[in-house]
Amino acid sequence: MSRCVEVLLGPPWSADVMRGAHVAVVDVLRASTTIATALANGAAGVIPVADPADAIAVGHRLGRERVLFCGERDAQRIEGFDLDNSPASFGPSVVAGKTLVMTTSNGTRALHAVAGAASVCTVALVNRTAAADVLAHADGDIVIVCAGEANAFALEDAIGAGALVDALLTLVNRVELRDGARAAALLYRSVAGRLADAIASADHAQSLAQKGFAPDVTRCAALDTLDVVPMLRDGVLVLSPAASPG
Ligand code: MLT
Repeated sequence: MSRCVEVLLGPPWSADVMRGAHVAVVDVLRASTTIATALANGAAGVIPVADPADAIAVGHRLGRERVLFCGERDAQRIEGFDLDNSPASFGPSVVAGKTLVMTTSNGTRALHAVAGAASVCTVALVNRTAAADVLAHADGDIVIVCAGEANAFALEDAIGAGALVDALLTLVNRVELRDGARAAALLYRSVAGRLADAIASADHAQSLAQKGFAPDVTRCAALDTLDVVPMLRDGVLVLSPAASPG
């Protein structure tokens, strides 16, 4: 039986399409990249929450010494929080063993819009092949959700989704692409030879660069630098066990 792959290119995201499917949430700039970096560097888990007040409530329930409050509004660290949303802030000496409570403008919001999925993971360019491998070994349809920017389409997420579709096509025998997936794959292939430039040309990349985060944009545009897949389990993003061979 062939597996259906769809890409929801931007908000609003259809809950009907996600129900029962394996859902991959893509926020290339920067939440999905930062979450993958944090788990690769030894964070115990990442709890995505909707807003700063929720973060404080969850953090205090878990115990202040175990958690780091992280996230951004308008790309900057939230007042009173420990970390911003820059992957560069999430080094091993900072995050190892800690539970991160995170709120971002678009990425964690998209994670909260996912309803009734068979599984949920987060994907960026940096962990595209690792995620494709895990998704290829699961049964059922795949829905890739682009977090977007300010409630609209974001170029970098569509490119990231297309990169994931492209990898899935090499790993899954029988795939039926829906129109969103077809469009994302076409877009990715049209820029694959100049990925860093294409990501840097996106509106959100330019806004990040103006705020001093150009190195983040470069880091987020790198393909397959991390071999980790954050999976949502009981409200916490944790490392997926490696996909079994075969
Ligand atoms: C988001 O989730 O909205 C982004 O990660 C924002 C950012 O670049 O910090």
